Amino acid sequence: MKKSFYITTPIYYVNDLPHLGHAYTSFAADSICKYKLLSNYDTYFITGTDEHGQKVENSAKEKKIDTQKFTDQVSARFKNLFQKLKLSNNDFIRTTQKRHKNKVQFIWHKLLNNNEIYLGNYEGWYSVRDECFINESDITINKDNKKIGPSQDILKKVKEPSYFFKLSKWQKPLLNFYKKNKDFVKPLSRYNEVKSFVERGLDDLSISRTSFKWGINVPDNNEHVIYVWLDALFNYISILENGLEKKYWPADVHIVGKDILRFHAVYWPAFLLAAGYELPKTIYAHGWWTIDGKKMSKSLGNVIDPNYLVDTYGIDQVRYFLLKEIPFGEDGNFSEKLLINRINSDLANNYGNLIQRVLSMIQKYNNGFIPKPEKFTDEDISLMSLPEQIYKINNDKMNNYQLNVILENIWQIIRLANSYVDNSEPWNLFKNKNINKLNNALYVLTNTIYKIAILSQPFLPESSKKIFQLLNQKEEIFFNDIKNNIQEGLKLSKPIPIFPRIEKDEK
Ligand code: MSP
Repeated sequence: MKKSFYITTPIYYVNDLPHLGHAYTSFAADSICKYKLLSNYDTYFITGTDEHGQKVENSAKEKKIDTQKFTDQVSARFKNLFQKLKLSNNDFIRTTQKRHKNKVQFIWHKLLNNNEIYLGNYEGWYSVRDECFINESDITINKDNKKIGPSQDILKKVKEPSYFFKLSKWQKPLLNFYKKNKDFVKPLSRYNEVKSFVERGLDDLSISRTSFKWGINVPDNNEHVIYVWLDALFNYISILENGLEKKYWPADVHIVGKDILRFHAVYWPAFLLAAGYELPKTIYAHGWWTIDGKKMSKSLGNVIDPNYLVDTYGIDQVRYFLLKEIPFGEDGNFSEKLLINRINSDLANNYGNLIQRVLSMIQKYNNGFIPKPEKFTDEDISLMSLPEQIYKINNDKMNNYQLNVILENIWQIIRLANSYVDNSEPWNLFKNKNINKLNNALYVLTNTIYKIAILSQPFLPESSKKIFQLLNQKEEIFFNDIKNNIQEGLKLSKPIPIFPRIEKDEK
C-alpha cells in the first residue's frame, strides 16, 4: 500500500485580491506535493479561503457589498488564480461552507466538554490586520501618538465579554512535545524561535468576540462569534470528509509564511491536544517576498499581481523563479528585472538552449531518430549516471524542503550536458563522418535531457510535459523510472522552443 502524504497551504484571507505572496506559498506546496506524488506517495493537497473575522467584514463594508457576496467574489478570484496556476489541489475549502462551520461548532463542544474553555472578560489591544490581540511588550507608538502592532496597523482597544481557551496549561505539554519532535517546526531557526516563545510563558487565549457578527456562532450563545484563528485552523481537518480524516490526518506538513508561524506552531497544537487530536508532523515556515525591503502586502500598496506575471512570462517561468531565487525559509526582494534575468540565464540560455541544440542536431544529423549508442566513454558514463546520483541527493534535500538546492543540483546536470556538447562537437563528428561517436553523443545528450525533465517535473510541470512530448514520451514519469534510459530508435518531431528568451526592456 502507498504511504500517504497530506500537505496544506494556509487558507487565504478574502479581504483583498490574491498577490504574488499567495502564489508563492501555493507554488511551493504544489511542488512539494508533486515531488511526493512522483515518489509514489498517495498525496492529498488542499488550499482555500479564510472568510470570517473583522478584517473581511470591514472590507465588505468599505466596498458597500453584502459580506457573503463579497467573500463569494474574492474567494472565486483565488480559485480562478489557482486554476490559472494549474495547481493540483484535491479540494478547496471556504470557511463559510457548512461542512466547515459544523466541524468548528463540533470542536467547540468538544473543548467545552473537556473543560478547556471558560467565560470571562477581555480587555486589551487588537490588531485587525493580524486578527489577534497584541501583548503590551509588542506595542509601539507611531508619530501620531497612536499604539501600533508588529504589522504597523493602529490597534483597537477592546473591552468585551469573551470565552477563553486555557492555553497556559499547555505550556509544559507543548515544550515536551517540541523536545521530542525536533522536526515539528522547520527550518531549525524557527523551531528555536517557537520554543523560546513558549518558554517565556503562555496566557490564556481569548477565543470569542461580541463586537461584530461575521463569524461562526458560539453554540448556545449567539452573542459571541468564534475567534477567526480557531475557526480557520480547523479547516485542515474539516475538509477531510467521508473517511479522508482517517486516511490523511495528521498532516505531514503545513506550509505557512513566517508571519503566521505562532498560530500554527503554538495555538494549533494546543487546540488539537485539548480536543484530542494527533498533531501534524511538520510546520514549515517560509520567508517573505519584499519590495525594496518591505513585505509585499495589500495594506502597504506594493503588491504584484501574479496574473500579470504569468500572462507576461509564463506559469513555469514564474514558478521556477520564485522557488529558485531564494532559499525556502528566507526572505527575498522581488523585481521584474531579477525575474527576467533568471528566466534568460537559467531557462533560456542553459536549459532551453541545451534542448534546442540537441534536438535540432537529432533532426539534422539523424533524420529525427534517437540513435543507437555504441560503447560509452568515461565521459559518457559520468554524464549518464549523474541524474540518478542527483536524484538520491535531492531526496535527502527534500526532507528539509530545500527547494532551491534541489533546483541548483538539477542545474549541475544541465551545465555538464552543455559542456559535453561543447567538448564532443557533434557538428565536427558529423562533418568528419565519425558516425559511431556522433550517435553516442546524441544518445547520451537526449537521454540526459529526458532525465532532467523527469527530475524537474515538480518545479516545471508544464515544461516537462512539453519536453516529454518532444521526446515521444507519456505526460508524466515517476521518479522510479530515472534508472531506465530512453529508448533508442524513437522518431522525434521538430523541436519548438520551450523557454524563449525575454527581450522585454528590463525595468
Ligand atoms: N488567513 C490567514 C491564514 C490562516 S491558515 C489557517 C492568513 N492569510 S493571508 O492571506 O494573510 O496569508 C496567507 C499566506 O500568504 C501566509 O502564509 C503569508 O505568509 C503568505 N504571504 C502573504 N504575503 C506574503 C509575502 N509578501 N511573501 C510571501 N508570502 C506571503 O494569514
